[in-house]
Amino acid sequence: MSDKLFIFDTTLRDGEQVPGCQLNTVEKIEVAKALEELGVDIIEAGFPVSSPGDFNSIVELSKAVTWPTICALTRAVENDIDVAAESLKYAKRKRIHTGIGTSWYHIHHKLNSNEDAIVERAVAAVKYAKRYVEDVEFYAEDAGRTDNAYLARVVEAVIKAGATVVNIPDTTGYCLPHQYGEKIKYLMEHVDGVHKAVLSTHCHNDLGMATANTISGVLNGARQVEVTMNGIGERAGNTSLEEVAMILKSHENIGVSTNINTQKIYHTSKMVSSLMNMPIQPNKAVVGRNAFAHSSGIHQDGVIKNRETYEIMDPSDVGINESSILLTARSGRAALKNRLELLGYHLEQEKINKVYEEFLVLADAKKDINDDDILQLVGGNKLEDQRIKLDFLQVLSGKEVSPMATVRLDISGEILSETSSGKGPVDAAISAIKKILQRKVSLHEFLIQAMSGGSDDLGKVHMQVDFEGDIYYGFAVHSDIVTASVEAFLDAINKMKVNRVRKAG
Ligand code: KIV
Ligand code: ZN
Repeated sequence: MSDKLFIFDTTLRDGEQVPGCQLNTVEKIEVAKALEELGVDIIEAGFPVSSPGDFNSIVELSKAVTWPTICALTRAVENDIDVAAESLKYAKRKRIHTGIGTSWYHIHHKLNSNEDAIVERAVAAVKYAKRYVEDVEFYAEDAGRTDNAYLARVVEAVIKAGATVVNIPDTTGYCLPHQYGEKIKYLMEHVDGVHKAVLSTHCHNDLGMATANTISGVLNGARQVEVTMNGIGERAGNTSLEEVAMILKSHENIGVSTNINTQKIYHTSKMVSSLMNMPIQPNKAVVGRNAFAHSSGIHQDGVIKNRETYEIMDPSDVGINESSILLTARSGRAALKNRLELLGYHLEQEKINKVYEEFLVLADAKKDINDDDILQLVGGNKLEDQRIKLDFLQVLSGKEVSPMATVRLDISGEILSETSSGKGPVDAAISAIKKILQRKVSLHEFLIQAMSGGSDDLGKVHMQVDFEGDIYYGFAVHSDIVTASVEAFLDAINKMKVNRVRKAG
C-alpha cells in the first residue's frame, strides 16, 4: 500500500505575492473552489496580518470551501497568530503556519539574534498557535541553507511543542536535489519523535530545481509537498503542482498517492493563468501549449504508429481533450458550448449566445480560435465595469509618417477627446490619454506578447504605470496591439484612486 502524500497549495499565498498577480476576494474564491475540485488537501489562503484584504479573503474563502484545510501564514509573532486565528474562524478545517528563519544569514543578519534564542522563539510560537488550533505547521525559513544538525534541533523542539507538520523550505532555491533529499533523510534519522509530525517540502525554483528537489524530498520521507499551480511564485517561482502530480502518476514506484484528480489540471492551470494575468510559457511541462504538440515529421510519424513512441503521458490524463474540434468562424454554438464545458465553464444559454456573438467577431479576425481566446471571451466583460473607457481610437503610423493618435475617452459618462503625436502609435495614443487626464503618469514596464503565434493572433499586453511613485498594473488583450496597449494603460489608470487621476476643473 502506498503512503498518502499531502498536497499543500500555496498559489493564493506564495503565488499571489508576485507583483501583478493580485486577485480580489471573488477571484480567490474561484481559484480556491477549483483547487478543491482538483483535490488539494490544504489551501494556504494568505498572510492575514499583512493587509485587511488578505484577512478578508481568508474569512470568505473559509466559508466557501468545504474539504481542504484552510491555512493562514504568520511570523513567529503573537499578534500575527491572533490575527490568523481570527481570520480562520469560519474554516471547517484550519491550520496556522508559523515560523522563523533558521539559517546563519537569517539568525545573525535578518533577526540579529542567536541560535538558542531562535529555538525559544520557534517553540513559543508553536505553543501560542496551539492555543487556537490543533493543526500547527512550523516553517524553518531558509532551511535549505541551514546547518543540518541545528535544523534537527529546531525540528525536534517544535514537534515536542506540538507542531503537526514541519516545513523545510529551500527559500532561495539553492539546494541540489541530492542535498535536499539528504537533508530530509537526516531529519528523518536524527530527530527524536519525527514520526509524530509530517515533514513538508517547500522548494523555490531559482536554479530550475524546485520540482527535482521536491521529488528528492519525497523519496527521502517528506509526506507533504508545498506547490503552486503553474509554478507561480516569488522570483523564479515555486514547485509546480502539475509537475509533481504527473511525476507521481508516471512513476508509481515512488510509492505515494495523492487525492489529485489529474484530469482537472488543465482547467485549473488555465484559470490561474488567466485570472493572475500570468502567461504560461509554451514549453512549460504538462500545461504548456506545446507540451503535447508534435511538430517534427519524425515525431508525428512515430506518434501516429504508436503514441507511446514519443508520449509518456496521455494528454487526456491532464484534461486536454485531443478530439476537441478546431473552432473557426464556421463552428456553431454547440461546438463552442462543448469547448467551454471542456474548459470547465457550464454557462446559461443566454450567456453562451453573448459569448458566441463575440466569438464570431473574433473568428472573423483570426483563423482559428484556441483555448486562451475562449477564456478571454468568457472573462472579457471586465472592461464594462471600468470608470474610464476607451470610446474611440484612431492611429496613423508607418514608414516616413509621423505617428499621430486620436483618443476619445468615456469618463463616467463624460466624453473627452485629444489628438497627439509620438515616437510610435502607442506612444502617441498614450500621450493623447495623458493630455485628457492632465496628470503625470509614466510607463514603467511594457510587455506585448502574441497569445499563440501567427500574424492574426491576439496581442496580450502587460504594463506597469508609475503615478506619484506608486506602481499600478494594467493588462488587456486585443487583436489590435495598439488597442490592447491603450486598454492595458487604462486598466492601470482605472486602478488608481478616482479623484487623483484627473485634475479638478
Ligand atoms: O519560501 C519560504 O521560505 C516561505 C515560507 C514563508 C514558508 O514561503
Ligand atoms: Zn516560499
